[in-house]
Amino acid sequence: MTRNPEPDITEGARNQGKGLNTNRPGQQCPVAGEHSHGNMSEYQIRLYKDSDYQRVREIFADGITEHTAKSFHFSLRLPRIWAVFLLTFFVVLQTTGSLLLSIVAVIIDIGVLFLIHKYIYMHYVRRCLADDMSDIHKYYLQRDGYCFWVAESSGEVAGMVAAVPIHHPGGEKQVELRRMSVPRKHRGKGIAKALCRVVIDFARKGGCEAVILETSYPQVDAWRMYEKMGFKRSRAFYVPTLITRFVGFEIFCYQYDLPAKR
Ligand SMILES: CC(C)(COP(=O)(O)OP(=O)(O)OC[C@H]1O[C@@H](n2cnc3c(N)ncnc32)[C@H](O)[C@@H]1OP(=O)(O)O)[C@@H](O)C(=O)NCCC(=O)NCCS
Repeated sequence: MTRNPEPDITEGARNQGKGLNTNRPGQQCPVAGEHSHGNMSEYQIRLYKDSDYQRVREIFADGITEHTAKSFHFSLRLPRIWAVFLLTFFVVLQTTGSLLLSIVAVIIDIGVLFLIHKYIYMHYVRRCLADDMSDIHKYYLQRDGYCFWVAESSGEVAGMVAAVPIHHPGGEKQVELRRMSVPRKHRGKGIAKALCRVVIDFARKGGCEAVILETSYPQVDAWRMYEKMGFKRSRAFYVPTLITRFVGFEIFCYQYDLPAKR
């Protein structure tokens, strides 16, 4: 069996060719509980319900596309990108003899670079929204070993996270943490950490050996949060397409080993 056919800026390459079985019997989605953060607003973590659908999809899309600018700025630091700018400048200068046209050509290069980053994120969002996020209830709540939770604060969705079971051919069971996102106004209250704990707990109760996840280079807040939770970076790789590799689109894999494995 194969994993769900998700595209990917943040998923996919890691599991290529491992023959994963995603259908693990016997684990039900648990309801999580209530939390508070100092004197700040309280929130509770509960299972996803259909009335969350629209908001959850918006939070997911916003949480991914907000990284476009950071990712673009990162690629502006790459020497190969500057080599392309310089090449454009001199080729246009050589062929037209116009300094103005050469500068305009470089500005167009920069615009194209930004659009590439925008496309990478939007493409990923579009594919996810059409895949597992198109029928969240069916995908995550009607299959053993899968789950989807939301954090709720004052009646609104204040965060989300999903769990997907992964069976390796050697018998190792893991849970993949996915779709972690907290809207800006609810950040810094410990919601992501609480959602993380829910997934870790879910994996532990399901007898899994680890929780794994993938995140991309610009998602600095996310990797700080995962590292704070005890996740260790296991490896990094470039999404294997020419363009993503060229613009330096790197994926970081994280793993949290559960006590049975430690
Ligand atoms: C990453 C994200 C989920 C964090 O949500 P959050 O609810 O604000 O996180 P928490 O309040 O639980 O913070 C957890 C820890 O992360 C770190 N952290 C979070 N935001 C940070 C920031 N802006 N700067 C530095 N550290 C940060 C801190 O160490 C924090 O722990 P502390 O409060 O004990 O210092 C949120 O920023 C988000 O949704 N980002 C966009 C979507 C995304 O990148 N998702 C990850 C997909 S893999």
